[in-house]
Amino acid sequence: MSENTKILEVKDLHVDFLSYGAENHVIRDANYYVNKGEVMAIVGESGSGKSVLTQTTVRLTPGIISQGQILFEGKDLAHMTEKQLEEVRGRDISIIFQDAMTALNPTMRIGEQITEVLMKHFVFTKAEMEQFTDELLAAVKTQDPDAALAAWLTEYFRPNEKQMALWASQLKPLLSGADPRSAVIGWIKTTGNMTKERAKETAIDLLKMIKISDPEKRLRQYIFQFSGGMRQRIMVAIALACRPKLLIADEPTTALDVTIKAEVLNMIIQLVRELNSAIILITHDLGIVASYADRIGVMYAGEFVETGTSDEIFYQSQHPYTRGLLKSIPRLDTDSNEDLKAIEGTPPNVTRMPKGCPFHPRCECAMEICRQQAPALTTLSDTHAVRCWLQDPRAAEVRKKFGYEEVQP
Ligand SMILES: Nc1ncnc2c1ncn2[C@@H]1O[C@H](COP(=O)(O)OP(=O)(O)OP(=O)(O)O)[C@@H](O)[C@H]1O
Ligand SMILES: [Mg+2]
Repeated sequence: MSENTKILEVKDLHVDFLSYGAENHVIRDANYYVNKGEVMAIVGESGSGKSVLTQTTVRLTPGIISQGQILFEGKDLAHMTEKQLEEVRGRDISIIFQDAMTALNPTMRIGEQITEVLMKHFVFTKAEMEQFTDELLAAVKTQDPDAALAAWLTEYFRPNEKQMALWASQLKPLLSGADPRSAVIGWIKTTGNMTKERAKETAIDLLKMIKISDPEKRLRQYIFQFSGGMRQRIMVAIALACRPKLLIADEPTTALDVTIKAEVLNMIIQLVRELNSAIILITHDLGIVASYADRIGVMYAGEFVETGTSDEIFYQSQHPYTRGLLKSIPRLDTDSNEDLKAIEGTPPNVTRMPKGCPFHPRCECAMEICRQQAPALTTLSDTHAVRCWLQDPRAAEVRKKFGYEEVQP
């Protein structure tokens, strides 16, 4: 469920790649956000920049951020050091990649790969224990103590429901004791800190969660001993091991058989909802996101050409590219024998971008201005924005000609 608090906000982001001495502007002026607990879908054809954009969010591409901000819980990831980023990756934000075989380590047992990420993020230094404790002691003085304690546990230890109740009941009496500072530090050392045993128990729970039977035996196996669908589910387990606040799922089911695609996607969405995490779901198939997405961003040639709520994109789309994508979705709810229409032509190469609007060579509504000048972003509602010359009030006749009469820019 979306809570309308932005957990991630990307502002005016430009990402460039240097290639043979030339600078390619792969992402141009990207603006998007993700609310807490919501499903944000990013769609677009191959090469539109979906992976570069989202991997840049956690600074995993060699691309250069030439401009812009990547605000995660208010902190700018674009300017963090590698050490600070290491703490965010896998713990606060994690990624499921398209291809499990290349993303997972073939030489390590599955169990080790899961426990490794838990040990990395939840084993603390003495200085960290002291810092966390001081934060808790300050928070319980100024806020509701129960709420402050729960927020503190979630931030640093990511307990499940059972652990939350147990750990809160252990910590509460310590806070009113004679020496709360030493007592809380002691609690972190003995309980909050991740141990190998607890990491293994968590790994077993995770395999159960992704419905892999005989988890204890499976944890000792290697990735090649699993089927394609299982590998993808193991990526899900590793990505969710630390109960991240944001999951980026980059075409998580593309490599899978059509029969298990829906099963894996349903599982990802269900698990993410249970954790109350947000998800960025990347796909080139707008049809896939119809039943899951709260909001959708449509990318073309490195730009967002339209963003809106699911309803705005499906029922009030105003960009010819979005409309083209919608026409290429097979519909089960009509008897229509009309052929599916793929958008003619191919997206431009980043090294040879056309002048004006990047979509104009393929656009049935293209006007002369579209060939000359790139359109600005037009805001249609609090949640709906589009980058298209058709939104200019002077384009009313052109809109009408192409069936856009309901447009109210
Ligand atoms: N390491 C790199 N160096 C140079 N250019 C790159 C690099 N990675 C990606 N690009 C370019 O960035 C553009 C966007 O690529 P990206 O992989 O983000 O597309 P995508 O939308 O994820 O496509 P797909 O649906 O095929 O995964 C492409 O033109 C690609 O050639
Ligand atoms: Mg990609």
